[in-house]
Amino acid sequence: MQASADPDRNHKLPGKRRSIMSYQFTLIPGDGIGPEVTQAAVEVMAACDLSIEWDVQHAGATVVAAEGTPLPPRVLASIQRNRIALKGPVTTPVGEGFTSVNVALRKALNLYASLRPVRSLAGIATPWSQVDLVVVRENTEGLYCGLEHLVAPGVAVAIRLLSREATLRLARFAYEYARTERRKKVTVGHKADVVRLADGLFLDTVKEVSQDYPLIQTEVMTIDNLVMELALDPTRFDVILLDNLFGDIASDMAAGLVGGLGLVPGGNFGPGMAVFEAAHGSAPDIAGQGVANPIAVILSAALMLNHIGERRQGRRIEDAVRTVLEEGKVLTRDLGGSTSTAEMTQAIVEALKTER
Ligand code: NAI
Repeated sequence: MQASADPDRNHKLPGKRRSIMSYQFTLIPGDGIGPEVTQAAVEVMAACDLSIEWDVQHAGATVVAAEGTPLPPRVLASIQRNRIALKGPVTTPVGEGFTSVNVALRKALNLYASLRPVRSLAGIATPWSQVDLVVVRENTEGLYCGLEHLVAPGVAVAIRLLSREATLRLARFAYEYARTERRKKVTVGHKADVVRLADGLFLDTVKEVSQDYPLIQTEVMTIDNLVMELALDPTRFDVILLDNLFGDIASDMAAGLVGGLGLVPGGNFGPGMAVFEAAHGSAPDIAGQGVANPIAVILSAALMLNHIGERRQGRRIEDAVRTVLEEGKVLTRDLGGSTSTAEMTQAIVEALKTER
């Protein structure tokens, strides 16, 4: 990230115009609907009072033939240089071909914590209107650590690796997030009653970190009970702290409770770096049709701006999305409407121009 010097940044000086900040971010358009929805986010960010230069780096299935890998080193180098990236979803072939670009990216850059804020949005009809929870998920190990092998014909083993070191940093991230965002409770999900050693270690480590945060309530639940409670009443949750597999499943389920994957943003955080992306995948079933909902990536861009301290611009984007959804006239197919990606983007840009 390159921020131009701006002595007025933290001081409102009456009568003096605040200069526009300039940034350079990495942009990974991705596969499937990725280029359509990231383009939407770029257009929305262009309407903010910021000067943004995008370092566009293609990755995923689209570059394999030409470059021999879905994650060329230039992509990692760009993120390391810019420190902040906005990423579209990338396709991972099932059971064959290359392994997940997402897993490789998160491991290579040590993006150990995934954050997915799940909020009710006015205008989206769901059984609850007050959901405001955040799933914090471990991103580098667990069942997605990539250690699996065939032990005999017809018998496969996949290792769910949980370490104290990775759990410590994850738990610290979650509690620090809760503290700075004035959240009141962290619910930790586990399966230590059955997977005694691995989940036991995860749970004990989280409990140890929780001791340093006496003002934040810690709630412990088995993962099966947690997802049942989530389905019954998601408004009772605040921050939910989970390992990689449980977090992957629970965060998509939570997205379903507020209107679907097209609405939920996300960010992956590591030391000095962060990559923002929607919770959804490349949606090959609707790719290229111009009907994908761009809101999840647009809200990921807002999350990104909040992260770098541009909270006013981030809030403007969030408010613009809310305004459009509340009016209920412009809705993409997944939300029950027939609006195109481009029309939804335009409506958000227009609403943004009136948000100050
Ligand atoms: P998916 O999220 O791509 O799609 C699931 C369903 O939700 C589909 O019916 C799709 O049309 C719909 N959907 C998703 N995003 C939408 C949007 N913005 N607007 C409207 N409808 C939307 O999940 P799926 O099918 O399991 O995965 C497809 C590919 O995406 C796979 O190759 C998978 O590995 C990859 N993937 C990539 C992720 C990433 O890059 N972060 C995350 C999840 C999956």
